[in-house]
Amino acid sequence: MTKLAPSLLSANFARLEDEMAMVERGGADWIHIDVMDGHFVPNITIGPPVIRSIRKVSRLPFDVHLMIENADRCLEDFAAAGADIITVHWESCAHIHRTVSKIKELGKMAGISINPATPVDLMKHMLAEVDLVLLMSVNPGFGGQKFIPMVLSKIEYLNTLRENGRYGFEIEVDGGINLDNAGKVLDAGATVLVAGSSVYGADPVEDRVRELKRVMGGGI
Ligand code: DX5
Ligand code: ZN
Repeated sequence: MTKLAPSLLSANFARLEDEMAMVERGGADWIHIDVMDGHFVPNITIGPPVIRSIRKVSRLPFDVHLMIENADRCLEDFAAAGADIITVHWESCAHIHRTVSKIKELGKMAGISINPATPVDLMKHMLAEVDLVLLMSVNPGFGGQKFIPMVLSKIEYLNTLRENGRYGFEIEVDGGINLDNAGKVLDAGATVLVAGSSVYGADPVEDRVRELKRVMGGGI
């Protein structure tokens, strides 16, 4: 079953409880939480204290996407705050095998993300180790950007590696996903779609989640 993970980056930060409830009512599977540090990406968002607070008011799994330098230093904090899935960027981790092992030791699902220009092949030897691979389909840092079409062939290629190796990791795609391109992204092999502005920019938000889920074949 494919999953939809609305990104809180485009939600109203003054009312996160309601914003999460709206997507849950529409049938969202995970809540995608974008953590940015102003170093790895040119934007700063939220950290463990906010995650700890919102963890108390949502039952959905928290899919935490770390776009930060020195992720190793904060893994315990994000795990303790309530992350269920912790994804780190290949480009910001010098010893990613150690980082992934640490996330798993903390009892969380471990993901690796790569930017649009980073080749899938770099991760080849890590594919047996991870629960999730997140392919960025925009350059990370901001919501509301346009989907970069060349990422479609990366999804297809990663899906081929996944099938050939009989791996079980999720293929998550993040950036510029909307009603028009969701079908194509799934056809290429994605199993989890992140959607920020196309969900929270809609009115009502619940209906957009339902529409996206319908396109994904999991309509409720
Ligand atoms: C971008 C973030 C995304 C972002 C997606 O750096 O990782 O999760 O919120 O937003 P949209 O769907 O608007 O591209
Ligand atoms: Zn993200």
